[in-house]
Amino acid sequence: MTTTIPTPLATTTGGPDAAFTLTGVTKTYRQKKRTVEALRGVDLVIPRGQLVAVQGPTGGGKSTLLQMLGALDRPTSGSVKLGAQELATASDGALARARATEIGFVFQGFNLIPTLSAAENVETAFADSSLPRDARRTRVAAALESVGLAERAEHLPSELSGGQQQRVAIARALVKEPRVLLADEPTGALDEVTRDEIMTLLEGVWRERGLTLVIVTHDSAVARRAERRLYIKAGQVSER
Ligand SMILES: Nc1ncnc2c1ncn2[C@@H]1O[C@H](COP(=O)(O)OP(=O)(O)OP(=O)(O)O)[C@@H](O)[C@H]1O
Ligand SMILES: [Mg+2]
Repeated sequence: MTTTIPTPLATTTGGPDAAFTLTGVTKTYRQKKRTVEALRGVDLVIPRGQLVAVQGPTGGGKSTLLQMLGALDRPTSGSVKLGAQELATASDGALARARATEIGFVFQGFNLIPTLSAAENVETAFADSSLPRDARRTRVAAALESVGLAERAEHLPSELSGGQQQRVAIARALVKEPRVLLADEPTGALDEVTRDEIMTLLEGVWRERGLTLVIVTHDSAVARRAERRLYIKAGQVSER
């Protein structure tokens, strides 16, 4: 019997079967005379279905990397491929479509609209969608159910705990069934017990839906739960 030696993740080849393939990615911000090189030559392949944690010092480039992955911004140079699609040179419309159909976002501050109920907040994900109202409502209810908040659909954010608010944000990110979920310090505003609950929820949806999940975190307890840990310092990425 022969034993197969697993390929190290760092050397996995990119291409259409990878969730992301980044080659020589730089991002330079210019403000008046000052320039900041937020990313400096990032080469990175993230296979489909991987759970990746991204750590590193403040200002290291973590959120900038997430913005490149999430089609929120384009690199200054280099290539960012989402599956087979090149994002670096895509039009604004193409980036918006990629965000609308393939990518879900979760942020540290939940980013819920305070005057809307939990269900209405989740429904904002369909703002630009042609899905009929009844179908939206059904999907919203299912998404809230999947994060354990069916009973809280009519609550305003101010009537929910921090952990519950983050669950609403996760439901909003998932309701359009993206293949990729990007989370920027999703547990940064939560206590340890709630942090662990949110991580368990994220791991559950990652596993059930076969998502590619990238979590930026300052918290080693969160990063330890990932399959792969990346470290970004001064705009350069290394494996941990
Ligand atoms: N829109 C922008 N304009 C100018 N500079 C920016 C912009 N966004 C980020 N930067 C700079 O790029 C660098 C990387 O920022 P980034 O937000 O990616 O860091 P980070 O690793 O997410 O940090 P933190 O842990 O504090 O969130 C920093 O020096 C930051 O000041
Ligand atoms: Mg950041």
